[in-house]
Amino acid sequence: MSNPARTAAFFQLAALARRPNGRRITPLFAADPERARRFTFAFDDLSLDISKSAIDDAVLAALFALARVADLEGFRRRLFAGEAVNVTEHRAAMHMALRSPADAGLKAALPGGIDDASRLAAAERAKMRTFVEAVHSGRIVGATGQRFTHVLNVGMGGSDLGPRVATEALTLARDEAPMQARFLANVDGHAFEIATQDLDPARTLILIASKSWTTLETAMNAAALRAWLSGALGEEAVGQHFVALSTNLEGVARFGIKPDRIFGFRDWVGGRYSLWSPVGLVIALAAGWDQFQKLLDGAWAMDCHFRDAPLERNLPVMLALTGIWNVNGLGCATQCVLAYDERLRRLPAHFQQLEMESNGKHVMLDGSPVDHDTCPVIFGEPGTSAQHSFMQLVHQGPAVIPVDFILAAVPHHAREEAHRALAANAFAQSAALLWGRSEAEVRAEMAAHGASAEEIDRVAPHRVCTGERPSNTILFRRLDAFTLGRLIALYEHKVAVQGCLWGIDSFDQWGVELGKQLAGSITPALEGKPAPDMPADASTAGLVARFRALRGD
Ligand code: F6P
Repeated sequence: MSNPARTAAFFQLAALARRPNGRRITPLFAADPERARRFTFAFDDLSLDISKSAIDDAVLAALFALARVADLEGFRRRLFAGEAVNVTEHRAAMHMALRSPADAGLKAALPGGIDDASRLAAAERAKMRTFVEAVHSGRIVGATGQRFTHVLNVGMGGSDLGPRVATEALTLARDEAPMQARFLANVDGHAFEIATQDLDPARTLILIASKSWTTLETAMNAAALRAWLSGALGEEAVGQHFVALSTNLEGVARFGIKPDRIFGFRDWVGGRYSLWSPVGLVIALAAGWDQFQKLLDGAWAMDCHFRDAPLERNLPVMLALTGIWNVNGLGCATQCVLAYDERLRRLPAHFQQLEMESNGKHVMLDGSPVDHDTCPVIFGEPGTSAQHSFMQLVHQGPAVIPVDFILAAVPHHAREEAHRALAANAFAQSAALLWGRSEAEVRAEMAAHGASAEEIDRVAPHRVCTGERPSNTILFRRLDAFTLGRLIALYEHKVAVQGCLWGIDSFDQWGVELGKQLAGSITPALEGKPAPDMPADASTAGLVARFRALRGD
């Protein structure tokens, strides 16, 4: 079905939202004492509770009707068969092979043919492991003979965000990290200064992570680091301190990185799905190979669950369907991700790229314009900090903003009282979004605290929380590498399911090309040179002129 959104199943969602109480959640709990159990789905210790979303049996039936119309099970088959589900680039989306066993037999279509993806990925993983163990054992050292103590990952987007969240999740608050990781992404010179601050070139291993090897920011940062390193240790040190992670082996060779320091991967790995590929080398160097392997194992476990579990018990599918209902039924334009875990502080940033670069699309697979909403704006910060910043809007703003709460039951610290406080806040936030507080309750509480009738009349309306605001809660035993792998893969497949139901290509990203091209046309103007291709608007010209004037150029 090329356009599931132009079907009765899709239109049924809006009709169901227009029912009296069609958007309310508390009556659903009153009507079904078993609701929490029926709408909680488990995969071993990891559970997904969607009972606080405004989904009843009629909505669920409509969502599954849409899934059937969109041929979700056929899409799932094609995805795991390695067919070119990335329609515009004629490529498979076979990031599952990066974490599959060598003999899993996953194939991947590319314009030039079919790859034995599981075997190719396993071979590169073996090379990565050998390298990581050589660096950790001191068999591989820097140009001065000193061991590498720091690893600096240089990359943007998927070559930065996924590796960064996994590295932080597996090393923060841990004292057994074999190496210290740093990340350099932005072309902003301040980022370079921050990343290299008090870094010893002699003990720093530099990973240049770029799938395409054409990203300007990464190229400029790589060149700056090459100068930084050779300035300290001489040009011949480059070969010992640089590693390349890319699909563009010719480009890497031109930079002068030695063949045994190049870890490649194929175009059936999308950038935002690449942390499992050699782009994840920083994770293995910083957290240890066994942690990286457990991360892969967790993602593969979720892959198998997504591939094999019936839709009705399938966690990525059920999470995806709550999002389809919130966006296309309730008209929600944003989605908040609140991990109650400082180790996951970069998770929203990774999910922003994963979701918004995958499903921020305006045309269907057949090129026709979408006439429905697709990806919401994803944002988030760790809880409980978010409660003291934007949660006011989520509780009392006019717009309904669905929230995904994420929490580990057992922390990697011994501060039990703090963890109980963290959990109490996470559960309280989702309960507050659900129940709110009526004006009658506010009045009674203010009266009980001795407020005058005049004060109550004046302030009570301002203290009302409407409630009936949807949330999901993902709970698991510990945030270990295996669970982190399951969690990220859960969202990867959620994104793919939503793209299928929206009838769009979740695996290309043509929207990022225009900005890059225009930046190239503006740069000469900033240098005071002719810029014939610069955008013609007077604002851009005026901004360039003011920028140059402020600099005294
Ligand atoms: O943002 C566009 C994009 O191509 C992302 O998809 C990708 O993760 C990022 O830029 C970096 O690309 P590369 O890894 O090729 O440098």
